[in-house]
Amino acid sequence: MSTFVSRTQCVGNRVCAAAHIPQDAALMVEAGRATPCRFTICLAEICHAEPPEAPSRAPRRMNTVFDTLPTTVFETMSRLARVHDAINLGQGFPDDPGPADLREHGARALRDGWNQYPPMMGLPALREAVAAHYALHQGLALDPETEVMVTSGATEALAGALLALIEPGDEVVLFAPMYDAYLPLVRRAGGVPRIVSLRPPAFRLDEAALAEAFGDRTRVVVLNNPLNPSATLFGHDDLDLLARYCRRFDVTALCDEVWEHVVFDGAGHRPLMALPGMRERTVKVGSAGKIFSLTGWKVGFVMADARLMRGLAKAHQFLTFTTPPNLQEAVAFGLGKPLPWFEAMRAGYARSRDRLAGGLRDLGFEVLPAGATWFLNIDVANLGYADDAAFCEALVTRHGVAAIPVSAFYPDGSVRTLVRLCFAKADATLDAALDRMSGFRSGRPGRSA
Ligand SMILES: Cc1ncc(COP(=O)(O)O)c(C=O)c1O
Repeated sequence: MSTFVSRTQCVGNRVCAAAHIPQDAALMVEAGRATPCRFTICLAEICHAEPPEAPSRAPRRMNTVFDTLPTTVFETMSRLARVHDAINLGQGFPDDPGPADLREHGARALRDGWNQYPPMMGLPALREAVAAHYALHQGLALDPETEVMVTSGATEALAGALLALIEPGDEVVLFAPMYDAYLPLVRRAGGVPRIVSLRPPAFRLDEAALAEAFGDRTRVVVLNNPLNPSATLFGHDDLDLLARYCRRFDVTALCDEVWEHVVFDGAGHRPLMALPGMRERTVKVGSAGKIFSLTGWKVGFVMADARLMRGLAKAHQFLTFTTPPNLQEAVAFGLGKPLPWFEAMRAGYARSRDRLAGGLRDLGFEVLPAGATWFLNIDVANLGYADDAAFCEALVTRHGVAAIPVSAFYPDGSVRTLVRLCFAKADATLDAALDRMSGFRSGRPGRSA
């Protein structure tokens, strides 16, 4: 496996994974655009390349938005982590099984409870729990009957909202770095993306950029707060500015707030929905997977004014219609947990963040501030890397640690020296990763195994 095919753009200083996905390689050969790749390990998915065009004589069988979409970088890095028996700090999931009492509730509901279709809007007990939860934690007054809907994860809520809110040709303002689902979902809904790139290390909103992006055709702005992968929380100034633009241009804000509870150092999350004039023009999305460290449950919730909710419910009706009732019951129980439970959860993750950040700094890595989420970023520029993907390749193949190149979250790849690591892991996992990374600067392989 010394010569691999990849996209033409791979012959630049990129790394590429076609070596590990022969079927993708085969497809590229078929498409007649294959070029031998100079790299030993090929991560085609993380190239910032335009997708290859289908040959003109081939019949178009699929919608181009998805047909030309590469495998996500998360899947690629997880696969490389398996191939190289690496510690996976790439994909964001905790390595413990999650709160025992929630799992017990879910198990009991599965065994003894109702296992047929629950109501399309979600179990009443969960919708009431969602409304009570956000009243307590964020001061929001939501009507559980008309303003709360349960979805199969935040991703379904986002997909349904984009389908329901956008007419083909509407412009949608997005901020990079962005969660990888946004762009294809916006495009598939017929939206025209207007992307505003936020710059490290602060990742703040800037009025000049908003003035350029917003216009009369803007229908929706998507805000992820706290922001994954930058691990930052937007401040009052950012939110006030964005709210002003939403009001001025009569824009609906789709707020992906899945990380709202995972904020550190005494900071508090402020929902955009709570700002003056935003209640009727905001769709707020939450995720039990993130709140309770149970990422595989895929129970999400969407909250919006009753008028907006009518459209959102219609999209949801024909996407998943509903979500497993036993998991809904368990999440309803979890949302009612007392405040100290949430404080302890945050304190636990803050401790893990400090363990990994401190260890990395001791090894000479430049660690960016991480105020929220399960992630921190390192800047690899001072290690001589101008390319985060090349760094991730070296890290996983030579040192056995998988990470995510942040350029994958910038559609134009404009920020290229940041690497995201997930610290939602046991101490022993973080220590083992640090041990493996200890030889990075000296070039010595860091594997102790
Ligand atoms: C910003 C953001 N939005 C949405 C999701 C997906 O949430 P869910 O698993 O509930 O679909 C994630 C998961 O990592 C995320 O980071």
